[in-house]
Amino acid sequence: MTSSREAILLVGGKGTRLRPLTVHTPKPMVPAAGVPFLTHQLARARAAGIEHIVMATSYLAEVFEPYFGDGSALGLHLEYVTEEEPLGTGGAIRNVASRLHSAPGDPVLIFNGDILTGLDIEALVETHRRANADVSLHLTRVADPRAFGLVPTDGTGRVTAFLEKPQTPEEIVTDQINAGAYVFNRSVIDTIPADRPVSVERETFPNLLSSGAHLQGMVDSTYWLDLGTPQAFVRGSADLVLGRAPSPAVPGRCGEHLVLDGAEVAQDAKLMGGTVIGKGARVEPGARIEGSTVMDGAVVEAGAQITDSLIGAGAVVGARCVLDGAVVGDNARIGADNELRAGARIWCDATIPPGSIRFSSDQ
Ligand code: GTP
Repeated sequence: MTSSREAILLVGGKGTRLRPLTVHTPKPMVPAAGVPFLTHQLARARAAGIEHIVMATSYLAEVFEPYFGDGSALGLHLEYVTEEEPLGTGGAIRNVASRLHSAPGDPVLIFNGDILTGLDIEALVETHRRANADVSLHLTRVADPRAFGLVPTDGTGRVTAFLEKPQTPEEIVTDQINAGAYVFNRSVIDTIPADRPVSVERETFPNLLSSGAHLQGMVDSTYWLDLGTPQAFVRGSADLVLGRAPSPAVPGRCGEHLVLDGAEVAQDAKLMGGTVIGKGARVEPGARIEGSTVMDGAVVEAGAQITDSLIGAGAVVGARCVLDGAVVGDNARIGADNELRAGARIWCDATIPPGSIRFSSDQ
């Protein structure tokens, strides 16, 4: 058994890129494939042998514990630590150190709370042990690394630099990026400054590197998606439903769609591409929904066509509306015959009168 038994989950970010979905709900609690996204991460961590998880919370911190409790339903021991002021990723890790049971030389896993991945968690811990590293990082390869932190490594996998969000071709020296899962020796966590905001990506990692610490990268090119944007979130949820992204926590069999208990779907409505229909939601006759998430209690009226979109809890999408790559906030009401495309975000509780927005001629 090579696994670490302890982990920290970073779940305190504001999730600004995902607004308005994160107005009432912190990003890790937004449903993906019918359950709060965090459920998938917790289930995967448990399957890798982790038993104790400390959640570092800040934004909308109060919603986590009532839902997950002490974690026993998932076979875990969960603890929650809330920051008075957001401490950033590194500050959040330091702030929960007193709850860890690990000895100074023991490996502690740390996960960003918004990554959907098939990472072999035990292999990351094994890599860390074999390399005798201070910190090890999961790295993944992406086609366009400009939005990420680049992590070049030498022939042995040892990290040689941290380059945040490179722009020029000369700066793009590798396609390996920080994938948001780490193993830290417990003693390294204790060296992060306490009681002030610290970014693990911008401060802790570069400082460790320049002080001569051994940081090891493990490239694992399995399924990986950062669910930070609405487009990525809806893609991730659909991939979970379709079975392309691995999780033991999908409530039901994988397939073209997932319809949760208490949802009402008209017989001739078409649901495909990993679409989720939430509890108590209603889909009326002739509607066609592809690769999308319709959250609890939302209504999709007759003949609406929805693709790659997220419909918030209690929202209404009027008859014959066309949505493609759109986000509708909780309890918003989109009147009939509107067309919303290309990243449109309708705010929570907003009302759009019938026939008001089009991206094409009405005739
Ligand atoms: P954006 O605002 O859309 O960038 O999202 P975010 O706030 O989640 O930030 P980012 O995606 O960079 O955060 C990476 C991970 O760290 C996520 O799991 C966040 O929940 C978490 N995180 C970010 N800042 C903090 C913080 O100040 N405290 C805690 N506890 N977690 C944080």
